[in-house]
Amino acid sequence: MITEPVLILVATMGGTATFVADEMADALKAKGIKPFLVPMEKAALAMFDTRKLFIICSSTHGNGDIPDNSVAFFDALRDQRPDLSDVRYGTVALGDMTYSASFCGGGAQFDDLFADLGATRLVDRLEHDRQGGTFPEEEAVAWLDGWLEAANAHQPA
Ligand SMILES: Cc1cc2nc3c(=O)[nH]c(=O)nc-3n(C[C@H](O)[C@H](O)[C@H](O)COP(=O)(O)O)c2cc1C
Repeated sequence: MITEPVLILVATMGGTATFVADEMADALKAKGIKPFLVPMEKAALAMFDTRKLFIICSSTHGNGDIPDNSVAFFDALRDQRPDLSDVRYGTVALGDMTYSASFCGGGAQFDDLFADLGATRLVDRLEHDRQGGTFPEEEAVAWLDGWLEAANAHQPA
């Protein structure tokens, strides 16, 4: 069983990702796991010194771009390239299939960057389509079950 806190990093323009992250935090609490919600504008590389379990919850804006509140953190990761080989993570990407060529591009950018820095992707990224007729928070909470199962199965050595 996971005993350490889970940090949920939130990249959003309009607040949907924050709402989804809140619902995931409640689901974690209900399972006795401590969540920390971190808006990306407050995220810092020093987090990785003490925290090892992360969920990225990011929408997409512009044309496949990450939300404005996450640009500084993304750039710090890309430029300073911390070693994330002891980090385990997953990504919840919010998007809209109307933008088919850049669907969920923001979440995909974070997912790829974490993997590139050596972090372990516990399960495939969730991609939610705003036009798909499902609620992102419901899909995210269901996805979280699989993510937790994988986290429990793949404990660090
Ligand atoms: C101006 C604008 C541009 C967008 N561009 C994309 C895009 O390129 N790809 C995509 O999948 N979704 C795109 N979306 C959809 C949003 O990512 C989606 O609606 C998401 O749920 C918004 O979450 P947020 O409120 O947390 O920002 C765009 C939305 C807006 C308003």
